[in-house]
Amino acid sequence: MQHLKLNPNLLDVPLYIAGKPIEEVQEEYGLTEVVKLASNENPLGLSPLALSAFQVALRDAHRYPAMGDRNLRCKLATLYNAQYDTTLTQANFMTGNGIGDILRMIAEAFLFDGGETVYSSPTFPLYRILTTQFGGNCIPVPHKHYHHDLDAMLDAITPDTRLVILCNPNNPTGTLISRDHVDEFMARVPPHVVVVFDESYYELVEDPHYSNAVAYIQQGRDQVLLLRGFSKVHGMANLRLGYALGTPAMIEYLHHAQIVFNTGDPVFYAAMAALDDHAHIARVRELIATEKHYLYEGFSELDLTFIPTAANFILLVDLPRPAQFIYEELLKRGVIVRVPAGFGLPDALRVTIGTHTQNEMFLRALQDVLHNNHTEQQA
Ligand SMILES: Cc1ncc(COP(=O)(O)O)c(C=O)c1O
Repeated sequence: MQHLKLNPNLLDVPLYIAGKPIEEVQEEYGLTEVVKLASNENPLGLSPLALSAFQVALRDAHRYPAMGDRNLRCKLATLYNAQYDTTLTQANFMTGNGIGDILRMIAEAFLFDGGETVYSSPTFPLYRILTTQFGGNCIPVPHKHYHHDLDAMLDAITPDTRLVILCNPNNPTGTLISRDHVDEFMARVPPHVVVVFDESYYELVEDPHYSNAVAYIQQGRDQVLLLRGFSKVHGMANLRLGYALGTPAMIEYLHHAQIVFNTGDPVFYAAMAALDDHAHIARVRELIATEKHYLYEGFSELDLTFIPTAANFILLVDLPRPAQFIYEELLKRGVIVRVPAGFGLPDALRVTIGTHTQNEMFLRALQDVLHNNHTEQQA
């Protein structure tokens, strides 16, 4: 490599560390039963309607993607207009290979000659990774009791700020920014800043005070982008699909950063079927809502401190043993969770809410790690 001219921005990029795959843990520890509660995946999987729509669309796998993208965007516009009483059209939507890909387009579109991205810390590491990749400057703003500190974020804005990213609910804390706080923030944010709402988990939010970024877009505010996707409630994490909602002018501009044919029609048709499978969505929401409380009780019995969540994962803080030790001991017992070090919290654990059986297995393993001295035998 020494004769090649390398991009210094890329050399500075911290690599994303994903949750450990099940097969790797099985191999490493010689286990047959392993549960993965590390990547906020949907424990009930893909909607059966989405699976069959995907399979039908595979018949055209030899062709380039055709109408799937437009059809999905039209469907989203209809659904949003019914839900939010808006007048959106397909021109308000843009799709990508997951919200991660949309974030990449936004970074490319706005951080081209430096510029700053303001985000809360801890939060989803991709904001930092993409900002660095595209030569921007990261401005992390410390959290306030695990919530976004919106006043401090406003104070962090300078003439060089291009993006402010609000992760709502925030990964890895699971905390929510309320509608009142967002409204106050939006009243004060200067017009040269793009405000990105990352709402990867929005379908799981039960709080009626959840913010409504759609309203700003309906009002024609070009500086607002709302990101939602299909990886969580819709169980399509492996199919890679997300979308941005913005004014037609903003969406048109972002199309310049889009890679042509970036998503295949089978994925679009699976997404359309997933949106129609109300029973599956309700099952997922119900499971997470119930199991969240089961885990809260389990944590309280173990005297552990957790942050109440608005999403499908829970953050454990102020742990009685080092997070890395608990993580490794859980691995030996066939449970994969996450130490959110790359998110800015090396002393915490984040666990994804699974099925009841998976959660039971996790709590049993956790109790064993914290209260029994079996570590030598297990190792
Ligand atoms: C806050 C947040 N944003 C974006 C993503 C990436 O989503 P996608 O799978 O749609 O790329 C995740 C995934 O965990 C996330 O937690």
